[in-house]
Amino acid sequence: MAPRKIKDGVYSVGAIDWDRRLFDSLIPLPLGTSYNAYYVKGESKAALIDTVEPALVKELFANLDELGVRTIDYVVCHHAEQDHSGAIPAVLERYPGARVVTNQKCMDLLVSHLRIPASSCDIIADGAVLDLGGRSLRFMFAPWVHWPETMFSFLVEAKILFTCDFFGSHFATGTLYADDEHHVYLSAKRYYAEIMMPFRGKYPAYLQKIEAMSPEIIAPSHGPIYRRPEFIIDAYKDWTSDKVKNEALVAYVSMHGSTKRMVDRLVDRLVAKGVNVKQFDLATIDIGELAMALVDAATLVLATPTVLNGPHPAAVYAAYLAGAIKPKLRHAVIIGSQAWGGKTVDTLKGLLAGLKLEMFTPLMTKGLPTAEDLAAVDHLAETIEARHSALE
Ligand code: FEO
Repeated sequence: MAPRKIKDGVYSVGAIDWDRRLFDSLIPLPLGTSYNAYYVKGESKAALIDTVEPALVKELFANLDELGVRTIDYVVCHHAEQDHSGAIPAVLERYPGARVVTNQKCMDLLVSHLRIPASSCDIIADGAVLDLGGRSLRFMFAPWVHWPETMFSFLVEAKILFTCDFFGSHFATGTLYADDEHHVYLSAKRYYAEIMMPFRGKYPAYLQKIEAMSPEIIAPSHGPIYRRPEFIIDAYKDWTSDKVKNEALVAYVSMHGSTKRMVDRLVDRLVAKGVNVKQFDLATIDIGELAMALVDAATLVLATPTVLNGPHPAAVYAAYLAGAIKPKLRHAVIIGSQAWGGKTVDTLKGLLAGLKLEMFTPLMTKGLPTAEDLAAVDHLAETIEARHSALE
């Protein structure tokens, strides 16, 4: 992808990874991703803001060549994760004399992860300004977005805020701007759920500071950039708030149909009572869809058969994920089936133990659910609906 001008002296020079389908050997990328890097030319100095995944460094260099860049004075490193920092060694080799501008924590990680010499780095403080001549970058530390060393930079004169992973989306597109807000919203929400949500308590303060800067453009390091910043700021305000929606997430796996009968009955009753249900078969689900549904849901229903004395592995993964990404769920319940016993409920409860929520009484059938079991499911639906009706 060719370099693209954002404002005078400011260009997007990163790489689009159209075909990548898995990130960190963990996160599905149904729409690929991009590693955005930005070139900012002042009257006296030039800065490269972040780099790209090392495998695509040729694309970064081709873009810089097309702009006629011969010298880079500063490589601003917002975040040490390798999809943004991994090409720094190659950049330093190609542009000798370039200094890595970052904070102390980030430098420590660059040294340990990439063996970048500390002597190549200039350490800046929170709020420091880097003068490029007529253009200046002001740094804002933003720990836990999503690592402890992360920071943003604000191009003061052009009012462009570079936020690295924050506000990002795994969305490969040839369109520079996030004008297709419907599609970008879904990708950004998925990204937030998978990567940012565990630290959501930090973000309202960052959002306030960002609003106070009145950026005209927000340029993250994944996905399209925002020339209507309030679109993504408002979305983050919603996702990070304490409010949940009238949504029950029913995540199930069934081997011989007993658990599925419980699920069918419960979903039928919840829908009849006006509860919005999102139902996922854990045997086939893209785990990112599950994470995204956890952003707003008030209740998680985890339904599983018992296998080898415990939950189905797909249910274990779902419970682990929910426990790890810390959604704002208010309630959860475990339902399912067993043939003769087992520790299914205890195992899943343990994985959800870190979440502050109300656990409803579990419902486990022996084999196919009886009329009594189904009556208990109906009662569970009534309980969920009553709790949802009481939501603020
Ligand atoms: Fe896009 Fe945390 O790296």
